[in-house]
Order: sequence, then C-alpha cells, then structure tokens
Amino acid sequence: MSDKEWRTHNPPGSRRVVVTKQLPGERWLEILTQADCKVEICTSTDILSVEEVQAALGDRCDGAIGQLTEDWGEQLFAALKAAGGKAYSNYAVGYNNVDVDAATKQGIPVGNTPGVLTETTAEMAVALTFAAARRVAEADRFMRGSNYKGWLPTLFLGELFWHKTVGVIGAGRIGAAYARMMVEGHKMNLIYYDLYQNTALEDAIAAYGEFLRSRGEKPVSCTRAGSLEEVLREADLVSLHPVLDETTHHLINRERLALMKDNAILINTSRGPVIDETALVAHCQGHPNFRVGLDVFEDEPGMKPGLRELDNVVIVPHIASATIWTREGMATLAASNVAGILMGYPAWQDLDISPFLGDDPPKAAPSIVNAKEVGFPLYTG
Ligand code: DGY
Repeated sequence: MSDKEWRTHNPPGSRRVVVTKQLPGERWLEILTQADCKVEICTSTDILSVEEVQAALGDRCDGAIGQLTEDWGEQLFAALKAAGGKAYSNYAVGYNNVDVDAATKQGIPVGNTPGVLTETTAEMAVALTFAAARRVAEADRFMRGSNYKGWLPTLFLGELFWHKTVGVIGAGRIGAAYARMMVEGHKMNLIYYDLYQNTALEDAIAAYGEFLRSRGEKPVSCTRAGSLEEVLREADLVSLHPVLDETTHHLINRERLALMKDNAILINTSRGPVIDETALVAHCQGHPNFRVGLDVFEDEPGMKPGLRELDNVVIVPHIASATIWTREGMATLAASNVAGILMGYPAWQDLDISPFLGDDPPKAAPSIVNAKEVGFPLYTG
C-alpha cells in the first residue's frame, strides 16, 4: 500500500477491490458490497503514480477501479493478474490511459462508463462555446478588477451564432448531442466530419428543418463533410469530439488552424493532445478575434507556455462530465463492471446502459470494451 491515505468500506467482504480515488454517491459502494467486496479507497486527491497503484494492488486483489489520470499499462495489468485480479474498470468513458491489449494479454476484462456523460459533456461544450463567443470570463475579470465605468456601445463585442454554421469533428454520442443543442437551440446549420455517417443525427436535423419550414421559419441544414479541412474552412464554430488515438493526435495543428475563419470559435472537451497546444497558443496570439474554450490540455494538469496569459481562451480543469448525476452514474457503472465480472455475469450488449441506473439492474457487466477479445460471455437476455 502507498503512503497516501486510504479507507476501507465493508471490511468483512471476501473479495478485495482497490479504488484509486473517492467516487461520489453511495450506490457504487452498495453494488460492490452486495458482490461481497471489501473496498479499499484512496482518499487522497493526489494523482497516484504507477508504482503507488501497484503497491496498492499488493499481492491479493480481485478487481480495481482506476482513473483517467493513471497509466494502466503492462506493469499494472501484470501486477493485477499476479495478485489474482480478474476485473478492471476505468472511471471514465474514454480509455486512452488504458493499454487494452496489455489487459487482454493478461485475460483481464476492461470496463468503461459510457452513456451517462453524453448530455453533461455536451452541455459543458455549449457553456464553453458561449463563454468564449461572448467573452464571459474576460468580462468577469474586468468587473472584478473594478474596471467597469459605465455602459459603452463597444464594450466586449462578441459573436452571434443564430443561423450560422456549427462544425462538429467526431459525431459520436457526445458530438451528436452537442450538434443538436446548437442546431435546435440556435437554429445553426451543421457541418460534421466523421469516418462514420450518423444517420440518426442527420434524420433528426432534417425533421427539425421540416418543423421550422412548417412554421414559416428558415430551415436548418446538415452536411456530412468529405474532409476535416472542409469543416474548418466552413464553420463559424468548431467543437472537437474525436476519440484520442494515434490518428487524432495533433489533429488540430498549425496548418489546420490557419484554415479556420479569423473570428471562429474552437472548443475542445475531448482529450488535450487532439490539439497541438503550442500551435494553438501561437495562433491565438496572432488572431485576437479567434476564441477558444478548453476543458482538456495536452500535458494535463499543465498548460503550454503562453496559454494562461491569453484573453481569447477560456480554460476549465477537465470538468465537462462534472455533474452530480453523471459522476454518480459513472461510479455506478464502474462498480457494476467490476462486480459483474467478479460475479461471473456476462457483458451487456446494448448501447443503452440506463437499466443499470434503475432499481432492478440486469445481471450483467454494463460496458466491457474487450469482451470479445478476452472471450467474455455476452448477455443475451
Ligand atoms: C471521460 O470519462 O472520458 C471524461 O473525460 C471524464 O470527464
């Protein structure tokens, strides 16, 4: 065990589960208790190193719930396996911090927490969009600095989105939810880029366009772009929602930033390394009307030099999923993944995980990303 502070829940439990951060709510603890688990929780807010997590796993550990700030690679999965571990869940929907192949090699199923972050994260992307476009953080600092001397026609002019074009890169669950919030709330046209066509999104926007037309209002449109560059050139506002992997690392670089409108807005609630942050700083320095909202950073928790000084960038500390409902839901799903695996349940197959949030959850592990690879049984009802 590391020298950080830990507490134990349900000491008599026969299975030992290590949880590297305190999670919100009580439900997740009830789920693990019902699965006869003694739960050891790190109560420190410090980010644990690989060595500290390994020490916590010790020589007997049945399952673990880890954080996106931890590097779950070969070393930790070998240690978990050696300790008799059979289950791992990330407390996140994203799992770029997890070497899934290394877990699969050890025969360890890896869980994640999809479905409960969608609207919450999309809402934060919307919040950052307007904070950046309407210069909310800048104006807040101005007020607090006692600089307001009276109303002026030119004070803090920003951008209006009504009937303009929103660009979405990565139209999966969160990207599509954000797109609909901007289209349906602000009558924006959508242009999106994704390797996969999102027909549900396209249909919803077509139906909304028809609704507007039926009321004599100007309809909205939806275009699936043939390239990322097309979105960057066309859109007044671009929000990033891709998965981070080697193909999306520095997806937004100096050359691509140069394609964007001088007064465009760029939002990132996905993963920091999707943007070349050094190039972004230089671009923002040279384009004061280009505005940015960032929830994630390339070297989290650090920021690239120059970023914090920029007035045209709004920055928040990776809190896009930080609502009570979502964070408790994530805890419920992570605990259900680990408890489900330890109880010998199969892996849930449906994208809809809401039954796990209700009073009579299915006897399944809600989201196992390598179920097929580790030969995990699949839920058939
Ligand atoms: C996730 O779950 O991947 C999010 O980044 C957490 O906010």
